Amino acid sequence: MEFKDKVVWITGASSGIGEGLVYAFAEMGCKLVISARREHELLRVKEQTKLSDENILVLPIDLEHYTLATSWVNMVVAKFGQIDILINNGGVSQKGLAMETDLSVEKKIMDINYFGNVALSKAVIPIMQNQKSGKIVITTSILGKFGLPLHSTYAASKHALYGFYDSLRMELKTDNIKILIVSPGFINTQASVNALKEDGKRLEKNSPAQINGMKTNVFAQKLISAIKSDKKHVYIGNKELLSVPFKLLFPNLFYKIMVKLNKGK
Ligand SMILES: NC(=O)c1ccc[n+]([C@@H]2O[C@H](COP(=O)([O-])OP(=O)(O)OC[C@H]3O[C@@H](n4cnc5c(N)ncnc54)[C@H](OP(=O)(O)O)[C@@H]3O)[C@@H](O)[C@H]2O)c1
Repeated sequence: MEFKDKVVWITGASSGIGEGLVYAFAEMGCKLVISARREHELLRVKEQTKLSDENILVLPIDLEHYTLATSWVNMVVAKFGQIDILINNGGVSQKGLAMETDLSVEKKIMDINYFGNVALSKAVIPIMQNQKSGKIVITTSILGKFGLPLHSTYAASKHALYGFYDSLRMELKTDNIKILIVSPGFINTQASVNALKEDGKRLEKNSPAQINGMKTNVFAQKLISAIKSDKKHVYIGNKELLSVPFKLLFPNLFYKIMVKLNKGK
């Protein structure tokens, strides 16, 4: 795939994985749409890319307000006339016991991570169908493959993305719209700091797994390789990725170890 002049829309672009992707795609000569809630952070990221106003659109969005998705898409089309790649990456993590988490917090996580993501894709797909081409990349998680204590709703939202996009990929085959599901392990971002607690407040604390995780520039290069080789799914991370086959091969041992590792957290 040739990236130069492609229009790439990245959500969750104000920090972490999304921010790393912005710099990598800017470097390859793409035209960018960068979205998240915090406009001042998006402007900081835009500044770093050194792209001219002609080649980058800062589009603040709140995925929780996904009923506005079509109006967001209209703004992108008005600016660039096309959308070649949508990277549906914006999301929020969780740290709270299921039985103590208010249902309103569970709904918020599902609205952002699942419905916001799906609504945006559904608003972009008609544009890609008209173009007869497009690529949608979705950031899920290894927690889309198994659950962990304190992450029940987050894991549910990421499992749900697998189900939706694995099905959608087959429905869109004749439209030449490709879907890549990306499952990160531990990446060095603010995900833990921004995770929602039982009461919906931010955790405001980083985790050793996150701090020692893969750097976002390394992640970005691996993701770009997966796009180039037209993969349907890719895991990106370090040795934590082994937990996925480990669970499949040794489910009882997996549960024992995970309960032990997460005791007192
Ligand atoms: N880091 C990891 O180890 C890891 C592992 C597996 C999966 N992931 C997934 O990777 C994606 C990116 O996370 P990250 O690790 O880069 O964490 P991050 O640094 O916290 O970034 C999250 C991004 O999502 C945006 N976002 C959050 N809520 C939003 C909302 N309501 N509407 C629009 N944008 C919203 C944030 O921007 P604003 O606050 O400005 O809105 C930010 O740009 C997430 O989907 C996460 O679940 C991360």
